[in-house]
Amino acid sequence: MDALLIKGGKRLSGVIEVAGSKNIALAVLSAVPLAQTPVLIRNVPVISDTQIKVQLLESFGAKAEWQGSDLRIDCSELHSAEPDEDMVRLIRTSFYMLGPLVARVGSLRMAAPGGCKIGARPVDLHLKGLHALGAKVELDGGVYEASAGVLRGSEVYLDMPSAGATQHIMCAASMARGVTTIQNAAMEPEIVALAEFLTSLGAKISGQGSSLITIEGVEQLGGSEYKIPADRIQAGTFLIAGAMTGGNVTVKEINADDQTAVVNKLREAGAEVETTETSVTVNAPNRLNGVNIKTMPHPGFPTDVQQPMAAALCVANGASVVEETIYESRTGHLPELSRMGANIRQEGRSAFIVGVDKLRGAKVQASDLRAGAALCLAGLVAEGETLVQNIHWIDRGYDSIERKLTELGADASRVQDS
Ligand code: EPZ
Repeated sequence: MDALLIKGGKRLSGVIEVAGSKNIALAVLSAVPLAQTPVLIRNVPVISDTQIKVQLLESFGAKAEWQGSDLRIDCSELHSAEPDEDMVRLIRTSFYMLGPLVARVGSLRMAAPGGCKIGARPVDLHLKGLHALGAKVELDGGVYEASAGVLRGSEVYLDMPSAGATQHIMCAASMARGVTTIQNAAMEPEIVALAEFLTSLGAKISGQGSSLITIEGVEQLGGSEYKIPADRIQAGTFLIAGAMTGGNVTVKEINADDQTAVVNKLREAGAEVETTETSVTVNAPNRLNGVNIKTMPHPGFPTDVQQPMAAALCVANGASVVEETIYESRTGHLPELSRMGANIRQEGRSAFIVGVDKLRGAKVQASDLRAGAALCLAGLVAEGETLVQNIHWIDRGYDSIERKLTELGADASRVQDS
């Protein structure tokens, strides 16, 4: 098993780019079965989640060819299947392909997605949308049995602005007969990007980025070429890494608008932050000031950056409260940060943090993707060496996090863990 060895004490500085967005790539790969001619997707992050998703598509007959981070995928000949349950359970968004696939092949069986360490992650809103469009989807002993004739447009109200359910319904509705509206839709940048991709296939979508999305179904969707935008969560993670080390870091070739919440919180914590349309530069003081964070659906503070931000606040001046409102247990990083000397009191979904002068390097364990990233960031400012174990979680969402940190001057390396 690999682990990351990080020797703390270096100020990060420099200019980096980040890979294509994991969450946009996964959304696009869910939609790809709708394309009846080949698609070329550029700038796909080569991480375990995207590779697993492509393998799942191949089990339905898709033909995929990787050329570096470009992926050519042909879904012209698809067939029904029941993909390997263990593989399905490796990634949650395997479920998001169900609607597009059943619209193409008529019926299929797919194991229910796993939850993970951050929460139960139900799919009731996905099912509400698929049923409204006329698909039959029933759970039979942990496996979904799905079938659909022609899907019909419908009005769908989401009890909460679920990013996944919004994506799933938008995809399925693209080939439904008639008009579908999604009310209380998610407004994340991933939704806007997915709508762009679907539109490039010939879909007719409006309202993406707002809470009311309208999809006018079309008979057929064809292939296209689409470039995955930069990963806003990776960008936010490295900006926080720069800020908490008193450094000067620029992330370029991104959509700076996606960083509004992070930029404002870093400024509130005392960092100077300059933005252009496609870059963000953080120039931080020796020590940030504590701030309060409450995660919210977009455009609120992104839940995926909450854990890295909590790591930064462990060494800030004064007290901070970090409240997680999206997931019920996105707190796996807290006990590990405490092992490093952080002063944290957890109450339910909230962490009450009092900044300490120094963290001490320790052997810590990543429990989920963003918790792992948070522990790497804590290692950057800790005295001595930090060994982050279970880094397969980190590799799901960061293509070689140690390479990026090293580019910025950190002392970080991947080592064999005994
Ligand atoms: C996507 O997850 C992202 N994952 C998550 O990123 C991100 O945190 C989340 O959106 C919010 O932005 C991918 O895109 C692969 P949701 P998703 O549906 O689709 C509840 C990361 O670290 N809910 O908006 O699961 C659910 O329990 C990952 O990259 C229902 O109740 O997000 C959760 O509490 C983590 N019923 C909340 O909504 C449903 O049917 C947010 O879920 C669906 C969701």
